[in-house]
Amino acid sequence: MKQGLPAGVNLMKAPKHDSQQSLKDAVAEGLKKTPKSIPPLFFYNTAGSQLFEQICKLPEYYPTRTEQKILTDNARAIIETFAGEVELVELGSGSSSKTRVLIDATLANQTHLHYIPTDISADFLLESSIALKSEYEPLSITAIAAEHSDALRLLPEAGNQSRLFLFLGSNIGNSEREEAISFIGQICHRMREEDRLLIGFDLVKDRQVLFDAYNDEAGVTAAFNKNLLVRINRELVGEFDLNLFDHYAPFVEEHSRIEMRLISRCAQRVHVECLGQGFDFEEGEYIHTENSYKYTLEGFGSLCAAAGMKMQEYYLDERGWFAVGVFRKSSGG
Ligand code: AVI
Repeated sequence: MKQGLPAGVNLMKAPKHDSQQSLKDAVAEGLKKTPKSIPPLFFYNTAGSQLFEQICKLPEYYPTRTEQKILTDNARAIIETFAGEVELVELGSGSSSKTRVLIDATLANQTHLHYIPTDISADFLLESSIALKSEYEPLSITAIAAEHSDALRLLPEAGNQSRLFLFLGSNIGNSEREEAISFIGQICHRMREEDRLLIGFDLVKDRQVLFDAYNDEAGVTAAFNKNLLVRINRELVGEFDLNLFDHYAPFVEEHSRIEMRLISRCAQRVHVECLGQGFDFEEGEYIHTENSYKYTLEGFGSLCAAAGMKMQEYYLDERGWFAVGVFRKSSGG
């Protein structure tokens, strides 16, 4: 436990992994591939996280506010499916802003709540845990600063209370199917019969609505995407000219996903000093930076079934754009 934390807030940190890929390795490997690619993990430095917060407030970006509304409308019903008291485990909690409605609903039924937020950024996690504790006296918080798999390994032993695991924000949609199954399987492995998992996932919908959400007029998503090039220039002494790349994020029917791309406006060679290497781009060639999968209810249910989980209940917004599913271990899962 770190010194100087308010009473009721504990912080656990996972040791940094050597297996975690560095930006340098990701760029060296990814820009050799066809198509070129860099994993979305590298979006989230401080500037990238701030840009993502801005994206969440854009008029075109419906997922955040739609999920928030679903949670607000159904928090009581979700919590009331538990017979007794509950503790909350939130994977990738960020600022915990969406969680407040679930905390409120839980505290309507019990006098004390153990909340276990996990996030890769220790600073962010600590800041939001301290803020939450000052708002909610009856909370005790065990914050775990780690990536998801490590956080699951570091979870304190469960006691008498049921656990509600939360994986919100349609973050699951940024994983490939096999990765998503493996991750949900790891959560399932930590769950008991009486525990539940709440996942927010985005649904297939009108193509224009999907396109606009990832190609906003104000250009915030473009700045978020190009932040990868800014990072390469700054951290790896790269020579990407931001004006010679365009952000474009089409919905690719075949894979039912939005693909975030950075398209080269012309034939060019870009030197990256720290790699001692130049990378050639043809006109129109792109770097693929992220997938954001859009599901049907059946498709997402079958993905979770492959991970040993069964959808017990789901909640939708009025337009049927976004879903929050409640999952339990399937018998024998
Ligand atoms: C974090 N994730 C759920 C976002 C999404 O919608 O896939 C990331 C994002 N990329 C562009 N806009 C938002």
